[in-house]
Amino acid sequence: MKTSRDFRPDRRTLLTGTALAGAALVGGAAAASPLGARRPIHTMNTGDPLLRRTRATPEAGDAAPDLSHLPRVKQEMVAPPFAPVHDQVAEGGPRVVEVRFDIEEKLMVVDEDTDAAVWALTYNGSVPGPLIVVHEGDYVELTLTNPESSIFEHNIDFHASTGALGGGGLTHIMPGEQTTLRWKATKPGTFVYHCAPGGDMIPYHVCHGMNGAVMVLPRGGLKDGDGNPLTYDEIAYIGEQDYYLPKDEDGEFIQYEAAGDDYSDALDAMRGLVPSHSVFNGAVGALTGENALKSEVGRTVLMIHAQANRDTRPHLIGGHADHVWEGGSFTDAPATGFETWFIRGGSAGAALYTFRQPGVYAYVNHNLIEAAMLGATAHFVVEGTWDHDLMTQLDAPRDIET
Ligand code: CU
Repeated sequence: MKTSRDFRPDRRTLLTGTALAGAALVGGAAAASPLGARRPIHTMNTGDPLLRRTRATPEAGDAAPDLSHLPRVKQEMVAPPFAPVHDQVAEGGPRVVEVRFDIEEKLMVVDEDTDAAVWALTYNGSVPGPLIVVHEGDYVELTLTNPESSIFEHNIDFHASTGALGGGGLTHIMPGEQTTLRWKATKPGTFVYHCAPGGDMIPYHVCHGMNGAVMVLPRGGLKDGDGNPLTYDEIAYIGEQDYYLPKDEDGEFIQYEAAGDDYSDALDAMRGLVPSHSVFNGAVGALTGENALKSEVGRTVLMIHAQANRDTRPHLIGGHADHVWEGGSFTDAPATGFETWFIRGGSAGAALYTFRQPGVYAYVNHNLIEAAMLGATAHFVVEGTWDHDLMTQLDAPRDIET
């Protein structure tokens, strides 16, 4: 088994971006560490102030509104591609929705064929993290735990929330810590969340799987452009993950012994902006074969596609998006009849489709290089009766008549 070649930080040096740069220099000898050699301490977390690690922490104290008059519910998280139990149309007024994310740093196989693997940084053990579903006006009350066994500091930035770097500034937790953040869901739509510890750690964590999505439904449910209700029978929650897995001199993926051991190599690989993999739900084949998504003719699926880092362009081969909220905002009327839709990196979008034919549909990133060669393919297996009016084979392939 090949192992990390050079920079082998100890546990403490990996905890924060700042500590990382500091440790490299304190150890002396910047030259002894590829990281230190390349990156002086004073540039580690500078640049865009919004990307710096920060503890912009307004004291809550008595200022936190008393929400004891609101009903509280616990939302049980489920692993992708599934969605938690929820109502499409809200019953009653706003609620406080309690959710819990337990951070887990774990070795995950990305592609069995090549032994590609990653020490994934996850919320609740999955890539992407679980889908949260609430309604506009609800409060999300997240408890985030980082176990003592972790290598890294983590936090969470909810694009659906307002203030303090999406909550990122209020949720930094070291191994052995937990925190609880409450935010009000004021914007209906689908939104990404992700870890953002600061500096280079931000893309490092996001590109190691630490991201997911929240859906904030309008209280009255989804509507088309004329205000007519749109409903779904099931949700397919798909997180597209770009990985930048380092290779050795022989072109083999390097195997690392622990989370963080790839740090230096991974930053080098990421800097080229060319992913080694772009996969759905964490790994090649996570949504194909036995893991394919299932549906039936006449059923309507809401496909939620999240990409926290990189642009993508979902396409359902053999089908369409009947309605699509490309930017993820349910405030706007959905577009209709798309063949391929666009998900900008750092966002989640939603597309609604009613299956009209049985068979296998490939759901892909329609950069087909990424679909076929980097892993961005899922399958829907749809049961039902074939509609020969929509398509029929009049003459099966045979030799040309002469
Ligand atoms: Cu993290």
